[in-house]
Amino acid sequence: MALADPRLIVPLDTPTTADARRLVEAIGAAASFYKVGLELFATGGGMELARELKGAGKQVFLDWKLHDIGATVERSAAVLAGAGCDFLTVHAEPQVLAAAVRGKAGSDLKVLGVTVLTSLTDADLTQMGFSETTGQLVERRIRHAIAAGADGVIASPHEAELARRLGGPDFLVVTPGVRPEWSAKNDQARVATPADALRAGASHIVCGRPITAAPDPHAAALKVAAEMAGT
Ligand code: C5P
Repeated sequence: MALADPRLIVPLDTPTTADARRLVEAIGAAASFYKVGLELFATGGGMELARELKGAGKQVFLDWKLHDIGATVERSAAVLAGAGCDFLTVHAEPQVLAAAVRGKAGSDLKVLGVTVLTSLTDADLTQMGFSETTGQLVERRIRHAIAAGADGVIASPHEAELARRLGGPDFLVVTPGVRPEWSAKNDQARVATPADALRAGASHIVCGRPITAAPDPHAAALKVAAEMAGT
């Protein structure tokens, strides 16, 4: 039987934890790493689900994009590390990154920096008072993540190469916007196939709707994993 590829992360973008559990059940052994976002956290059951997934031997990525004063981020990261979570996102600003790195010290939790939200354009950055383009700010923030001792960054497939080059071989580069040739692009504007994202430097890919909206999520996850094999 084909095994789950630990580099494949499936986002549980569902309105309820019951839907998320059904999805995990449907995917079965074809995936071993799940992303739990703010929507499920807001339902009140996100952490319980995360603990349950860990108990079932899965890996958990909390995509909560923390952004607060250092003391709050540090304590939150420490609590999430204690819960056994594997990946946590924080905004890639020096103080926030440093606090998260302090908070998870001594644990296996990996802190990932979110560089620039893909919803922001150059015009948005100008309006917010930044003098850099999104591309320049992404690079600056990858450098901040490295300097703070973060474990990696979230990067679109076209930024993965830069993140890998700057961060070196052990840096985590987690890439959403991944679409196999056979699936719809949905609302993702710039996409890469699983193999192309890995070749560009991604250590992990986040691939959602091609799997989660498929009639057979188990078969779809195996198909994505098969495309990743050998890269
Ligand atoms: O279904 P799909 O593969 O597009 O899901 C991608 C996941 O990655 C979603 O959870 C989405 O919020 C997240 N994400 C993204 N693009 C980013 C950052 C995060 O699609 N730039």
